[in-house]
Amino acid sequence: MPIDYALDEAGIATVTINRPDRLNALDSEHYAELSRTWMEVRDDPAVRCVIVTGAGEKAFCAGADIKAVVGQKVELWEVWRSQQTPLINRGLEIWKPVIAAVNGYCLGGGMTLLLATDIRVAVPHAEFGVPEVKRGIIAGLGGTQRMVRQLPHALAMELLLTGDRVDSDWALRAGLINKVVPASELMATARRYAESIARNAPLAVQAAKELALRARDASLADGMRMEQFTNTLLEQLSTDVQEGRTAFIEKRKPSFQGR
Ligand code: COA
Repeated sequence: MPIDYALDEAGIATVTINRPDRLNALDSEHYAELSRTWMEVRDDPAVRCVIVTGAGEKAFCAGADIKAVVGQKVELWEVWRSQQTPLINRGLEIWKPVIAAVNGYCLGGGMTLLLATDIRVAVPHAEFGVPEVKRGIIAGLGGTQRMVRQLPHALAMELLLTGDRVDSDWALRAGLINKVVPASELMATARRYAESIARNAPLAVQAAKELALRARDASLADGMRMEQFTNTLLEQLSTDVQEGRTAFIEKRKPSFQGR
C-alpha cells in the first residue's frame, strides 16, 4: 500500500508513508492515498490520536517526488482549487493530535508535513530541510508560512533561504522537535505521547488543539472568549466531563467516550 494505516484499541492510529525505495517521496498516488487517510482519521470517532512516520530506516519523507510531480504543467484554474487533495499541511483541519515519528530525512513536503503536526520525536540521524529553493521552487503547503510562526525568525530564514539540511541537534535546540531518541526507541516514545493523549477526554483534547492553533490568528480577547464558550459547551453538554469528575471522586481511571 502507498500509505499503511493501522488503528489500535486505544484509538491510536499509525500512518506510515510507504515508499522506502524513493525515501518516501510523494507522487500523486501517495498524495491521494495520504489525503484519504487524513480524512479517515478526521471522520472516524474511534481515532483519538495519530502517529505519522515513514517506512524504512532512512527517511520520514523526502518531499514531493521531484521526477513525477515537481515542474508538472497545471491549468491556471487549478490555482483556485486550493483544497485539492486535502492534507494537514495544506490546511485540512484535524483537531485530533498528530505526533510525528521522524525516522530519517525530513525534507521539502516531509518538512511541511512535520510543521503541521503537534508533537515531534526524531532519531539522531534525521535531517531536516526545505531544499525547494535549490530546485527553483519554494516550500509550499505552508512551508514559508508555518516556518516563521514556529521558529525564531533568523532560524526560519536560514532554512528557507539556504535550503540546506540541519541535523536533529539543531532541530531540538531550535524547538522544531520535542525529543531525540535512538531509532530503536522512536515508535515507543511516540506511542507514549499518544497513549498519554488518548487517555484524556477526546473532545477536550480536540478543543485544546483547536483553540491553541487558532490563538495564532486571534486577538487575546477573542481567543479568551472562544475558550470560555468552548469550556461552557463542554461543561454543559459533554458527558465525559461528568465521567472525569466521578472518576476523580471514586479514585479510578475515567472511561471517556468522546461525547
Ligand atoms: N523525489 C523523487 N525521488 C527521490 C526523492 C524525491 N524527492 N528523494 C529521493 N529520491 C530517490 C532518489 O532519486 C533515488 O532513486 P534512484 O535509486 O532511482 O536513483 C532514491 O530515492 C534514493 O535516494 P538517493 O538520492 O540515492 O539517496 P542519498 O542517501 O544519496 O540522498 C537525499 C538522500 C535525501 C539527500 C537525496 O535523495 C535528495 O536530495 N533528495 C531530494 C530531496 C528534495 O529535494 N526534496 C524536496 C523536493 S521539492
